[in-house]
Amino acid sequence: MSECHRCLLGLIALSSLLTGVSGEDDVHVFISSGEDVRLPCNNALHNALQDCTSTTWLYNGFNHSAAVELIGLGIKRKDTERHERLSLESDCSLNIRNISTEDYGSYTCQQWTGVNREKHQGPNARVYLHVLHVSSSQTQISSDLSVSLSCQLYSYPRLSCDDSGRSERIHLFWVNQAGVKLNISDSRYQISSSSDPCIISLNITLLNEDPNREWRCEVTHRDQVKTSVTHTVKSSDQAQTTTPVPNSQDPSTTNTPETSTGT
Ligand SMILES: *[C@@H]1O[C@H](CO)[C@@H](O)[C@H](O)[C@H]1NC(C)=O
Ligand SMILES: *[C@@H]1O[C@H](CO)[C@@H](O)[C@H](O)[C@H]1NC(C)=O
Ligand SMILES: *[C@@H]1O[C@H](CO)[C@@H](O)[C@H](O)[C@H]1NC(C)=O
Ligand SMILES: *[C@@H]1O[C@H](CO)[C@@H](O)[C@H](O)[C@H]1NC(C)=O
Repeated sequence: MSECHRCLLGLIALSSLLTGVSGEDDVHVFISSGEDVRLPCNNALHNALQDCTSTTWLYNGFNHSAAVELIGLGIKRKDTERHERLSLESDCSLNIRNISTEDYGSYTCQQWTGVNREKHQGPNARVYLHVLHVSSSQTQISSDLSVSLSCQLYSYPRLSCDDSGRSERIHLFWVNQAGVKLNISDSRYQISSSSDPCIISLNITLLNEDPNREWRCEVTHRDQVKTSVTHTVKSSDQAQTTTPVPNSQDPSTTNTPETSTGT
């Protein structure tokens, strides 16, 4: 059993050598604010107890000068701001509940072995967490209602959404209920964007006869939709809701399926 295990690990190491373009082993996880996320620990050791006592998770964020220890040798640190939203899975991956725009950054899973856990067993496994968030403001302009939606991808180190050759090919889009990209040619919509930071804004002029409407901001990474946030405007009572839409196509995240409600 353990022999086979080593074969398997050897194969995995070999295949990552063969595909070894630098940075390709980094895991990028995209998630919408308010969702739960699971960050994989791809270097976890498989000991007999499966207790993760060799696993340490570190966080490097936008305003942290040094790494913050979230999990130390399998034990959750109680002195971090978000410890109540964290938990460790039996496979040593890190769960974070109710993601906020302050959770983006890089998460590092380390293994420490030896009797006193003094031996750092490399390499580290790193996960970059990118958070998609929509904020909105609504203004009444005479009989017309105007809605401004701003959709931003929070990432650290910062990913721009430009088209330069060495970019990660990140793009943001606004789509309608049918999933069709909004046209700038439609005078009801004004779209503007910036690439660094990665933001796409949408101004909508609602007409009186408009039924309830939904608009969705999507992020694509290397041409695949990673996550999206749906914003619903109800014309009747002018209430609005913003709902993250879990994307089951992304194997790096495990989200509980959820349907956006617009009623
Ligand atoms: C990071 O920013 C948040 C709020 O923006 C603040 O509460 C927290 O103390 C900051 N952390 C550090 C290490 O500066
Ligand atoms: C999630 O976090 C937000 C603040 O970021 C808070 O307002 C909300 O109540 C939280 N939701 C749950 C289910 O804990
Ligand atoms: C945008 O324009 C294209 C081509 O003119 C059309 O196929 C598409 O349906 C339009 N999208 C919307 C949301 O109207
Ligand atoms: C959207 O509307 C706001 C407020 O009227 C304005 O400041 C902003 O420039 C508009 N954005 C676009 C993309 O037209």
